[in-house]
Amino acid sequence: MIDRFWAKFGKPSSDSVHTLTKDNMPKHVAIIMDGNGRWAKSRGLPRIAGHHTGMKVVKQITMAADRLGIQYLTLYAFSTENWKRPKAEVDFLMRLPQEFLSIELEELIANNVQVRMMGYRDALPSHTIRALEEAIARTADNTGLILNFALNYGSRTEMTDAVKRIAEAVRDGELKPEDIEESTIAERLFTNGLPDPDLLIRTSGELRLSNFMLWQLAYSEMWFTDVYWPEFSESHFHEAIAEYQRRARRYGGL
Ligand code: FPP
Repeated sequence: MIDRFWAKFGKPSSDSVHTLTKDNMPKHVAIIMDGNGRWAKSRGLPRIAGHHTGMKVVKQITMAADRLGIQYLTLYAFSTENWKRPKAEVDFLMRLPQEFLSIELEELIANNVQVRMMGYRDALPSHTIRALEEAIARTADNTGLILNFALNYGSRTEMTDAVKRIAEAVRDGELKPEDIEESTIAERLFTNGLPDPDLLIRTSGELRLSNFMLWQLAYSEMWFTDVYWPEFSESHFHEAIAEYQRRARRYGGL
């Protein structure tokens, strides 16, 4: 029987020259989509043009991940620190989920993709959260790729909040300090129920984590490229996964 992987992977949708192995696919890929501004600047365009092209790349990479049978794709779309940017740029970024979903939601549904988000919802504009919540609700029963947008997400705040909730549980007598385990923390993060990323990709040549999934990336393989996000292609994505598949993961063992 031709399984889902080869049926989908066989589609002539990619010019990738990288050989990938079905058995060693990362389950969860996380991406720091960086370089939109520099890409735009290098073309004499306003920064928002970079973000807009970056949005189109989100679609391409989501579909590429789906074709490979990757189960979780987490995309860093807006950090808790990104509010420091000029208001016009923040406003533009906050309209992107809405625009993206108005164009792509039907196709995501047709491909059985489940949309999720992680981050602090309260600070998001109502139009942003409305669009996301509609997509989350309409795709909740889908069983394919989980497309997880990190939006107004910050890892240190996420962990600080988890610690606060644990402290409250101890104070209220619901939890003993000696019973606190790694899972006690992990269960109180936005990623509760998701496996840790196997592979982190960051585009644009920056070599840092920028407050992204600091707990969850403890044993992830990391892959960095100089390519700016708006020009990141399915072939680059395959290159990252091919490199991942060449690595030996030892988790501190031998
Ligand atoms: C970092 O590049 C990128 C962002 C802060 C925004 C990323 C958002 C997208 C790629 C689109 C999201 C789409 C959806 C559907 C939510 P930068 O602006 O920091 O680039 P620079 O470092 O070159 O200035």
